[in-house]
Amino acid sequence: MEKKIPVTIDGRELQALPGQTILDVAKENGIYIPTLCYHPLTTLVGACRVCVVEVEGARNLVASCAMPVSPGMIVRTDTEKVLEARRMIVELIWASGDHNCLMCESNGMCELQDLIYQMKIEKPRFEIQSPGYPVETTNTMIMRDLNKCVLCGRCIRACNEVQVNEVLDFQERGSRMKVGPAFDSDYSDSSCVFCGECVEACPTGAIINTQGRFAGRPWEIEKVRTTCTYCGVGCQLDLNIHDGKVVKVTTNRDYGTPNGGSLCIKGRFANDFIDHPDRLKTPLVRDKNGDLQEATWDDAISLIAKKLASIKKKHGSDSIAGLASARCTNEENYLFQKFMRAVIGTNNVDHCARL
Ligand code: FES
Repeated sequence: MEKKIPVTIDGRELQALPGQTILDVAKENGIYIPTLCYHPLTTLVGACRVCVVEVEGARNLVASCAMPVSPGMIVRTDTEKVLEARRMIVELIWASGDHNCLMCESNGMCELQDLIYQMKIEKPRFEIQSPGYPVETTNTMIMRDLNKCVLCGRCIRACNEVQVNEVLDFQERGSRMKVGPAFDSDYSDSSCVFCGECVEACPTGAIINTQGRFAGRPWEIEKVRTTCTYCGVGCQLDLNIHDGKVVKVTTNRDYGTPNGGSLCIKGRFANDFIDHPDRLKTPLVRDKNGDLQEATWDDAISLIAKKLASIKKKHGSDSIAGLASARCTNEENYLFQKFMRAVIGTNNVDHCARL
């Protein structure tokens, strides 16, 4: 059994596991410490300092998200010094960007907005200086407004460590520091694969899903968990519904396997087929003139059965081949191959994922 490490947080004597940070132990025991740059699946960087706490014997406040516990450590999360430091950090972050919530798509689900509200900051004591970057709207999936970026680096770590795409990084230094693909290019000119991991990781409205823009406020959206239909992996996702329409797709790390809160470009962004006017909703059968006409399922299935039977009779079973789809369930694909082998009598059956 692993040896436990005794630590005291806010007067509570707790047992920690080796390798746990102060934040891990606090969370596990229901002690609230605010965070901003912290991303549970990536390297700990301690960049924003919003999570600072006092540790007895330490010269300065320490970032609890990056500080491993040690035996006998005594931590205070709520002293005047800690609260004032966090407040100062949040005010500085607010003042360094254009955090205008009125038109921000993340209004209501912005972690900076939540911190400001919790800390009851009416306005920062520093002059607000937005960097004045142009907003990137050159693709239809991800919109970037670096004026709302808090330089937490979560998008960079999510891109490089979760999806391992290695597209994003910091560039420039000091007040000119910003995040983006190499050579300050747009996403569409970079090697970005539009998985949207950066959208999911961004704590503010700096990187958003363009498809959900002006399509409903977070509190108006109903999230419905479902399984992605694009391939056999079975990724779990949330359809975001507003007024009976899917307006965007998000994920939830708590759903666990198989995707752990990540998606590919198709699962996250290719969902407009759901309400597309060209979508087939009833079977179409060609009439005598070769024009497609709507038919009932019974009529369409009878026609297919008749044609398959006549081809088989005339040319043999192996003149027919079946191609199944990754968008069907395993059970449907199993039934399809069974139908091809047992009913049609051929092994000519394949699947689009192998092609
Ligand atoms: Fe700990 Fe940012 S959350 S330093």
